Amino acid sequence: MKKVVLAYSGGLDTSCIVRWLKEQGYEVICFVADLGQGLGCGENFEAIEERALAAGAAKVYIRNLQDEFVEDFCMPALKANAIYEGKYLLATALGRPLIAKYLVQIAHKEKADSVAHGCTGKGNDQVRFEVTAGILDPKLEIIAPVRCWEFKSRDEEIEYAKMYNIPIDVTKKKPYSIDRNIWGISIEAGILENLEQEPPEDAYMITKNPTTQASYPKYIEVSFEKGIPKKIDGRIYKLKTLISHLNEVGGLYGVGRADLVENRLVGIKSREIYEAPAATILHIAHKELESLVLDRELAHFKEIISLKYSELVYNGLWYSPLKEALDAFVNSTQKYVSGTIKLKLFKGNCIAVARKSRHSLYKKELSTYGKEDKFNQKLAEGFIRIWGMPYQR
Ligand code: ARG
Repeated sequence: MKKVVLAYSGGLDTSCIVRWLKEQGYEVICFVADLGQGLGCGENFEAIEERALAAGAAKVYIRNLQDEFVEDFCMPALKANAIYEGKYLLATALGRPLIAKYLVQIAHKEKADSVAHGCTGKGNDQVRFEVTAGILDPKLEIIAPVRCWEFKSRDEEIEYAKMYNIPIDVTKKKPYSIDRNIWGISIEAGILENLEQEPPEDAYMITKNPTTQASYPKYIEVSFEKGIPKKIDGRIYKLKTLISHLNEVGGLYGVGRADLVENRLVGIKSREIYEAPAATILHIAHKELESLVLDRELAHFKEIISLKYSELVYNGLWYSPLKEALDAFVNSTQKYVSGTIKLKLFKGNCIAVARKSRHSLYKKELSTYGKEDKFNQKLAEGFIRIWGMPYQR
């Protein structure tokens, strides 16, 4: 019998896929990746496992990948200041290559011939899964049932699930399509497809309504070592805990929401909203620290790299040679990115208000307008003449 390893979420689609693949003659192994999607919302992995088995899985792997995710995927993106189209902090895009990596690993362990996922044929996630799996093992067959199966609607899937006694909770019809992990939440579909309408408050899951929040700001200090956040308000945290903590605090102040129409790789524009309180706070603080410790040429050149880096991540090229080369560049820029940034969280905003670093390039004796001024203004005259010389006719 042919064996397949399926990236299983516990939802309606992937549960139907288990059964569907079985009908096609496969032995189905389910793999559930825990990237922190259950943090704070009580995702029940035991129930997910039971559902997979009830749907017909021969075996279920559940792996807690939270540490690897934040250390090896979120941190490189943070150091690179990788933000897609100026707004999206890439939570979903960063999770896919990691899930694909373990899909392939488990396929090898199980001596499976193929891997499967539950993505549609219209999105980026199919690309990320398949490109990654293809890079890590080009011999594995890839099955994407949602692209080719007979079900035309959610209702037909529900019928199918009922027919085979797959325990699916269909009572609460979800109005959105949601992907969640510790770095952020992506929310699409339903009413969000109407671009002329503001997203309803109920679409947001982990951020409080910014306009109804406390009338006092919250100050918070984040300390970095070589580009990696280590402390909040002087206390050392494990990375995963630090991120969870910032998600909570940021969420309380409505920080980290984004609403955008983005360009998918497959050529479709789509409206999506995001929540990423911790990632937002960390990106703002990290960038602020860089502006203190990086020289001008490096800082400006790095912005070009950030743009490219975000495209590579978004487009599923995490395991590409260019991405690896850019990581080497980015890491070399982080040598001096150590210090502390004080941020003010208030009604959905996160603003850096104070900064310090032992590697700061700021020289008060040069920038001051006070009497401690050491800048020799006479030198400016010659500099400007030579600087502007090529442009005079
Ligand atoms: N548009 C985002 C991306 O391509 C998120 C897609 C995740 N799926 C979802 N159901 N919202 O990375």
